[in-house]
Amino acid sequence: MVSRVIPVDPFDLVIFGGTGDLARRKILPGLFRRFCSGQIEDDVRIIGAARSDMDTEGYRQFAQQAIEEFNEGRTCDHGEDQTSSRDAFLSKLHYVKLDALGEEGWPALKELARPGRIRAYYFSVAPRLFGPLAEKLQTTDMVDDQARIVVEKPFGRDLASAQELNKALAKHFAEEQIYRIDHYLGKETVQNLMAIRFGNMLFEPLWNSQYVDHIQITVAEEVGIGTRGDYYDRSGAMRDMMQNHLMQLLCLIAMEPPAKFHPDAVRDEKLKVIRALDPVRADDVVRGQYEGNGERPGYISPLFCAPACACAIGPAKSPWCSRTRPIRSLPKTPGGTPTF
Ligand SMILES: NC(=O)c1ccc[n+]([C@@H]2O[C@H](COP(=O)([O-])OP(=O)(O)OC[C@H]3O[C@@H](n4cnc5c(N)ncnc54)[C@H](OP(=O)(O)O)[C@@H]3O)[C@@H](O)[C@H]2O)c1
Repeated sequence: MVSRVIPVDPFDLVIFGGTGDLARRKILPGLFRRFCSGQIEDDVRIIGAARSDMDTEGYRQFAQQAIEEFNEGRTCDHGEDQTSSRDAFLSKLHYVKLDALGEEGWPALKELARPGRIRAYYFSVAPRLFGPLAEKLQTTDMVDDQARIVVEKPFGRDLASAQELNKALAKHFAEEQIYRIDHYLGKETVQNLMAIRFGNMLFEPLWNSQYVDHIQITVAEEVGIGTRGDYYDRSGAMRDMMQNHLMQLLCLIAMEPPAKFHPDAVRDEKLKVIRALDPVRADDVVRGQYEGNGERPGYISPLFCAPACACAIGPAKSPWCSRTRPIRSLPKTPGGTPTF
């Protein structure tokens, strides 16, 4: 499917945590691709903000390396040579040394992120900084009706912490100004699901309980645990993969067609699916751990502990299907994908 380029109004974007892993691997290379698609106008500022000692020139070099490393050789569409497009993009970048929990850097940020235009604040930082950042933006008078914030999943660790985060953000931003992002939904295959289901005359009439016996959703991860032991200890397969990515996939697969292709309408249809599910009981879930070998670090080791999960989710009242839908998150091991 060829993606449509939606024109956007001029904006200034602040990436809090602009020197972090997410900014380096996803946000900066992704923004460059948007620039290549003609979606970022000339008069746009992209401002990285973090505590690291860096200036704007250093940040542009950081971004250039990130683009080279993670842009998978994609070039700009306009027939221009890649270097000049990249330099044009880099010239939009700025850096502010700033502490989310202190006073340093905020006046400089206020000067760069211009009022009167859309100011978007990407919270690419640990969730414990979401509340303090939202508050600081408010007290430094950088929030108006046009401002919006973007927060990445994982959104808290459990229901109570997610509710706490919601409360902290809602103190300073209206619900329409808060964008909770799951970058998994940007994957092409996931984006294509809606087109396949609702726009394809071959599949559309068959995608229902009369013709589909049951559905299995499997995520077999390419990458091993690598250095992500801490991530698996704090979030991991069940709290992150299942709860975020796989539930979103389940919704896209099982939901009714939305009345219009509008974010709220899509969200409403997804919510209906979630409300129709039986609560997951402990004995619906199988959890496993993998031993490493010489090639890859293991999950059962003194440092790392990363359960893989399989769990059967059945809809209580879904009009769509009465069959159980197993969803699984299975890190690939050298010996192949295990079965439960
Ligand atoms: N990495 C991914 O692929 C990924 C995927 C999905 C979701 N996420 C989520 O996205 C968030 C960021 O992840 P990450 O992997 O980029 O983490 P990270 O590599 O640890 O980066 C954290 C960033 O926050 C900055 N920071 C920390 N304390 C700060 C403070 N007091 N004031 C200002 N800046 C501060 C750090 O820079 P300084 O140390 O220079 O201040 C750094 O730029 C996390 O919530 C994570 O769970 C990450």
